[in-house]
Amino acid sequence: MSLGTSPIRIGSEDKARGRTVFGADLGEKGDLHLLCVRSGQAPARIEAIDTAVAARVPGVVRIFTAADIPGVNRLGIIPGTKDQEFLAETYIRHVGQAVALVAAQSEAAARAAAALVKPRLSSLAGVFDPRKALAEGAPLVHPDSRTDNLLTQRKIIKGDADSALAGSAVIHEAEYSTSFIEHAALETEGGRAWLEDGRLVIKACTQNPHYDRDDVARFLGIEKSLVRVIQAETGGGFGGKLDVSVQPYLGLAAWLLQRPVRMVYTREESFLGTGKRHPLLMKYITGADAQGRLTALKADLVADNGAFASYGLAVALRAAVHATGPYFVPHVAVNCRLVYTNNPWTGAMRGFGVPQVALAHEGQMDALADRLGLDRLEIRLINALRPGRSTATGQVLTGSVGLVQCLEKIKPRYDQWRDELKSRPGRTAGIGLGAMFYGVGNTGQPNPATAQVEWTPEGEIRLYTGAAEIGQGSDTVLRQLAAVRLGLDPERIRLVRGDTDLTTNAGATSASRQTYISGNAVVRAAAALEEMILSQAGEILEIGRGDLEMRAGEVRVKGSPGRGLPVERVAERLVERGLAPKAGGEFDPATASLDPETGQGVPYATYSFAAQAAWVEVDSCSGEVQVRRVVSAHDVGQAINKKAVQGQICGGVMMGLGMALMEEFVPGRHENFENYHLPTIMDLPEIEPIIVEEPEETGPYGAKGVGEPALIPTAPAIAAGVSQAVGHPLRHLPLSLERVKEALTGGKNAD
Ligand code: MOS
Repeated sequence: MSLGTSPIRIGSEDKARGRTVFGADLGEKGDLHLLCVRSGQAPARIEAIDTAVAARVPGVVRIFTAADIPGVNRLGIIPGTKDQEFLAETYIRHVGQAVALVAAQSEAAARAAAALVKPRLSSLAGVFDPRKALAEGAPLVHPDSRTDNLLTQRKIIKGDADSALAGSAVIHEAEYSTSFIEHAALETEGGRAWLEDGRLVIKACTQNPHYDRDDVARFLGIEKSLVRVIQAETGGGFGGKLDVSVQPYLGLAAWLLQRPVRMVYTREESFLGTGKRHPLLMKYITGADAQGRLTALKADLVADNGAFASYGLAVALRAAVHATGPYFVPHVAVNCRLVYTNNPWTGAMRGFGVPQVALAHEGQMDALADRLGLDRLEIRLINALRPGRSTATGQVLTGSVGLVQCLEKIKPRYDQWRDELKSRPGRTAGIGLGAMFYGVGNTGQPNPATAQVEWTPEGEIRLYTGAAEIGQGSDTVLRQLAAVRLGLDPERIRLVRGDTDLTTNAGATSASRQTYISGNAVVRAAAALEEMILSQAGEILEIGRGDLEMRAGEVRVKGSPGRGLPVERVAERLVERGLAPKAGGEFDPATASLDPETGQGVPYATYSFAAQAAWVEVDSCSGEVQVRRVVSAHDVGQAINKKAVQGQICGGVMMGLGMALMEEFVPGRHENFENYHLPTIMDLPEIEPIIVEEPEETGPYGAKGVGEPALIPTAPAIAAGVSQAVGHPLRHLPLSLERVKEALTGGKNAD
């Protein structure tokens, strides 16, 4: 087994054949069906909720309201901002908020009853625009606990940006914005819960089983040892399954009724009742000297966080830290504010704010290059982060900084396309560039992962990981890492994953962190197991540990072929002595918390880098955009599974294409795929994924991460391509038909 090969993905055949049982597919005969009653009106104060009529619908077992919640009805991933009520108490803060939960013997009965639950509401003044929500006297989204709507503000201050701008040869100032985006995982949120030996078991789609267990236990007011969460096969997450969704409802009904229950969100509930990507309003001022070296960058970022905090704090910090893009900027002043409104809440979505700021920092680079008469790729090379240069938080990068290599890898295509474009006069095609850096793991805080490897006397080798597989491929990659470390075929290793009873905490499948962090934990666990086996074998054979090695499932005496022991014999001996042939590993990346005033510090132990070019064509009559070709180079440190990395890159390009051209969730207008447009296979460009490997010395065999980086450079590259094609900079996403047509006809709202 070696690195960079592509053993087939675990579970892929079942998925291809439609045999995989996802969270939304779970359910057995006799299960009660759960359904939320959602307010449909917000903001409002609840005067009363009449459930009596609904409760008489045949088949209805019980209707729960907030008063039935035995524990804490305030959940959320980030300590200090747990504010999400799973059933509204006094206030309804957004239109999708649940006010009651129906448990019934059939889905039809649950629906009939839900339609009869009548909350008596008095409407309140609401606020739906983050800038208005910041104004003095704006209606409060959390009047019961807060005196303003500012959820969080994060600053990055390095040097003196104002003075540096004053002394710059050129300054460019512009505003950019992005839209609310729906994760649109193919599987809507779903799962099942039941009782087992007096304990509650919840099996549901998720990105974070251990967090789910803890918050469900708080919600029910019971010890977390009484709750077991099992990750069901999860049909896409993209950040949308980091927050709990069905889990508290499943837990509440199963625990209070002591019966098995199932719940699946409709597509409409998935749109209105779960988090969205933050739309960002971004004002940028960037300066450069006459040679094109960046002198200073100021950014003012404001985002709508909707009604609940969710991952807002993480998004604010990550957007601020990455606001400069992957460039060395000596003077930086960034201010990022996330604001409560009465819109559906925004939270984690692939990239946590970085895909949004990438639109702005890349737009600025193009504008500066044009004004200085520099090539757009050249200005990126001039300013690229390199070893020895520092980020906006003052972190001096040492190794594994592969941006220059990524830019150089896409350059031949970029040059070739430009030549082609020159030979095709007219203004209907354009080539855009996008570059990015992305800190792997949680920002400026510990985020450890643990894992174990076991070798039984019967010869079964098991890898235990709490890391949720959400389709990105961590199962395959983690097993491959264990196989590489133990020198085995990965098929020999059985994976035990995502079960709070059987596996230990690996943290969230989030922040592109599982290959780097869980990957290290797995390699360390495999190394610890090997150590345990070899020392035990040394005792059996009466040979020093140093003279032994483990190869292909055997302990061998170095230099004495023929002498040795099967690992199973050693495992047997360990068991006889009352020891488990099982060892654990842990890894927590080295980070330092950021200064609260200046944001200076070491937010991440390592960064991934990428550069991309996109060739787009615009129909000058209709404004329709086709992305024809994309070349995307990613420094992943080391590809553990080459096809998995290429798959992430191609998938990220498609998601970025949606963000650039069509995806826009407007609260009140979009609630399903009838009018929320996603790219389909008909939109697929020719994608050339390029893997750059600048090994990260703290990574497992040098690996970093690619899950979110895959997406980030795409929308800026496409936007730049369309801008070039229409001859006008477009700075507001998505580049809808209307916006592109406006630009083509030179309308005043063109940008
Ligand atoms: Mo993500 S936004 O880390 O799922």
